[in-house]
Amino acid sequence: MKIIIINGPNLNLLGKREPEIYGSQTFEEFFEELKLKFSTIELSYFQSNIEGELIDKLHGVGFDYDGIILNAAAYTHTSVGIGDAVKGINTPVVELHISNIHAREEFRHHSFIAPAAKGVLFGFGLKGYELAIKSFL
Ligand code: DQA
Repeated sequence: MKIIIINGPNLNLLGKREPEIYGSQTFEEFFEELKLKFSTIELSYFQSNIEGELIDKLHGVGFDYDGIILNAAAYTHTSVGIGDAVKGINTPVVELHISNIHAREEFRHHSFIAPAAKGVLFGFGLKGYELAIKSFL
């Protein structure tokens, strides 16, 4: 079972960035814990602040991985290109947000990814990534 976590812009700052919203743990640290918890799964992680790099990664993994967990961050709300990439690949995608996007600004309520996603998880903090992995098992 091969699952990849793809994180979009500004998520490299997890731990430092608005900790009252996103928590104080770095993603690298959290990812180490996740790998120990799900040691039988081939788990990988990719982060980019660049829209085209996220699209290229979706194309690269989207035909032979078993699952993609995608937190496209701000691009969720703006990127037709990432939405189209999710529509164009075969691997099921779970859209994920650390915060409860529906309890925040109106512009965060719309997603270009959700219509093509297998499901959407938001508001559970980093624990959401764990729930997303379980959704593929
Ligand atoms: C986010 C929510 C987005 O609205 C925001 O732009 C992010 C992170 C989340 O994980 O809660 O950067 O995707």
